[in-house]
Amino acid sequence: MKIAIIGCGNMAYALVAPMKGMAKFYTYSPSGIRASVLADEVNGTQFEELAKIPAADIYMIGCKPQQFEELAKNIRGLIPNSATVISIMAGITVAKIQKKLNIEAVIRTMPNTPAIVGRGVVALHSSCAVSPTIVEKITKLFESGSQVFSFDDESMIDVITPFSGSGPAYLFELGRIFSEQMVQMGVSSEIAQKMIAQTFAGSAQMMVSSEKSFEELRTDVTSKNGVTYEALKVFQDSGLPSIAKSAIDAAYSRAKELSL
Ligand SMILES: NC(=O)c1ccc[n+]([C@@H]2O[C@H](COP(=O)([O-])OP(=O)(O)OC[C@H]3O[C@@H](n4cnc5c(N)ncnc54)[C@H](OP(=O)(O)O)[C@@H]3O)[C@@H](O)[C@H]2O)c1
Repeated sequence: MKIAIIGCGNMAYALVAPMKGMAKFYTYSPSGIRASVLADEVNGTQFEELAKIPAADIYMIGCKPQQFEELAKNIRGLIPNSATVISIMAGITVAKIQKKLNIEAVIRTMPNTPAIVGRGVVALHSSCAVSPTIVEKITKLFESGSQVFSFDDESMIDVITPFSGSGPAYLFELGRIFSEQMVQMGVSSEIAQKMIAQTFAGSAQMMVSSEKSFEELRTDVTSKNGVTYEALKVFQDSGLPSIAKSAIDAAYSRAKELSL
């Protein structure tokens, strides 16, 4: 299988690096730098011009949604009709990709960057023009670094984007806030970062492997009137649930806006 990666930024790198050895890769990005880094990582070939990329079976579109118009203008007509296009762009609909690229077989995905450590999440929606065999092959590729969730209803991709697509950033931000506070309270920044990371990783592993609900896991570590209880009470009283809901609503609106 030959896969052309058009746009080789953070997300494309995290997704494609674990696929090393599973296909032949061609990479392209306007500046060339990140395409070259990705090509080196997967033993692929970097191309300086779109027109020079040999015909591939799959074209993965890895640019930002705002960069898609320009990319589409440059690549339209260069993708063989038999190829499948995979988009990792937030918001951009299958219909828009089909129209702009004049290609029917489109798979829209919403990945996340933990794919680079084999713990990613990919939401996937396929247009009817993609055969089940191709969907299966593409799912296998993504499974190199991620757990794949398929959705028949495309609108679910926008729904999950603020949770799994953006989710890692929320955790990184929480980690930054907590470790900054630890430093202010006298812990070295190196130790603070390591302790927060390990706390999150261990807790996340429990969320993955335990049969208990998230609420039960939280209750297990919260004694009434204890230390944790005091902190959680402040979260609740300061409106954390409604802050989280507003944040998700804002991200969801933005995802839908990008599709217009
Ligand atoms: N980052 C995440 O956590 C995340 C999660 C889920 C989904 N996504 C989606 O992934 C996509 C990429 O995000 P990112 O964070 O990886 O962005 P990024 O790091 O800025 O990468 C964008 C890539 O697209 C290339 N590019 C820009 N204009 C182009 C054009 N006209 N033709 C071809 N390539 C072009 C850039 O080239 P240069 O290298 O030359 O600048 C760069 O390699 C977005 O659509 C986003 O919605 C991201």
